[in-house]
Amino acid sequence: MTETLTEKKDIPVNIYRPANPFIGKCISNEPLIRPGGLGKTQHVKFDISGSELRYLEGQSIGIIPPGEDKNGKPHKLRLYSIASTRHGDDRDGKTVSLSVRQLEYKHPETGETVYGTCSTHICNMKPGDEVRITGPVGKEMLLPDDPEATIVMIATGTGIAPFRAFLWRMFKEQELNPDYQFKGLAWLFFGVTNDASVLYKADLEWMAYKHPKNFRLDLALSREQTTKDGKKMYVQNRMAEYADELWDLIQKPTTHTYMCGLKGMEGGIDEFLTETAAKSNINWSDYAKQMKKEGRWHVETY
Ligand code: FAD
Ligand code: A2P
Repeated sequence: MTETLTEKKDIPVNIYRPANPFIGKCISNEPLIRPGGLGKTQHVKFDISGSELRYLEGQSIGIIPPGEDKNGKPHKLRLYSIASTRHGDDRDGKTVSLSVRQLEYKHPETGETVYGTCSTHICNMKPGDEVRITGPVGKEMLLPDDPEATIVMIATGTGIAPFRAFLWRMFKEQELNPDYQFKGLAWLFFGVTNDASVLYKADLEWMAYKHPKNFRLDLALSREQTTKDGKKMYVQNRMAEYADELWDLIQKPTTHTYMCGLKGMEGGIDEFLTETAAKSNINWSDYAKQMKKEGRWHVETY
């Protein structure tokens, strides 16, 4: 059986707490949505040099937006999945990066457009701006040390962030990780609205092209593609095209399955796995509990 990841020693947590956050600086803030895409999602890199902050792939940090809420209290922190590996995008251990979508919705009563407090703060940052950082936190989404493992990843939208960190560790930083030379299979199912909204598209496609035996990439473009029976192409519908193969993989003791992104996708994935497991007379909800106990089923949705 694979190690239980939460029992792993040496997981950094809460190095910086809300009462005493680290004040970092924005280094860069780049759009991840191309023309024709929907909304605003940014790749933001922060300078953490001079801090004690260190983190592992799959963890999150907290960001405290400036100012006060409507009750006059200082804003509370919001969590964001870390999108960079432990080495950071500059490979010197001095940065941390996030993939942040600006929350935007119509107020249910007034119809006015409302923008989220913290996501707007981050998405509008300029190089040199200060940022209050807490954490890191999270032991749910850690990557196993086993370089032969199978890693199934299911993402919607910014749920790609931890998987970007995983994939960079596997395929872009081999020389920085002599003890982690990935030889297993990484399979990413990634759901977004349309092609121009596929975050990190060029990098993902390049990795799939360079490592065809070790990385499979399947996109689900909900507003551009439909299923055979005319339904919206959600990530679970794309997975259903590979149901038998996936189910065989998921059952392997060396396979870890991860889900990250919209809370709303949990129901659809659950339904898909319930149907698929039932074909082998397995009750998915019991099976998921067992996988969780073995540290092979990882969910972070929001
Ligand atoms: P706020 O100003 O706090 O507004 C949010 C509030 O707006 C909601 O509580 C609700 O009351 C209201 N609201 C929202 N939508 C609607 C609607 N449609 N109709 C009516 N009211 C509505 N986000 C990312 O972008 N990237 C990440 O990598 C990421 N990782 C996360 C990891 C974890 C573990 C968690 C828990 C969350 C993560 N999030 C991530 C979400 C992030 O923490 C924030 O919740 C998000 O950015 C919104 O915060 P905000 O301050 O902009 O919005
Ligand atoms: P849609 O908005 O067309 O309903 P993004 O962050 O770019 O908006 O991506 C989130 C993706 O997740 C979108 O394609 C969105 O589709 C999709 N989505 C929304 N609800 C669900 C759900 N219940 N199950 C799976 N995917 C979902």
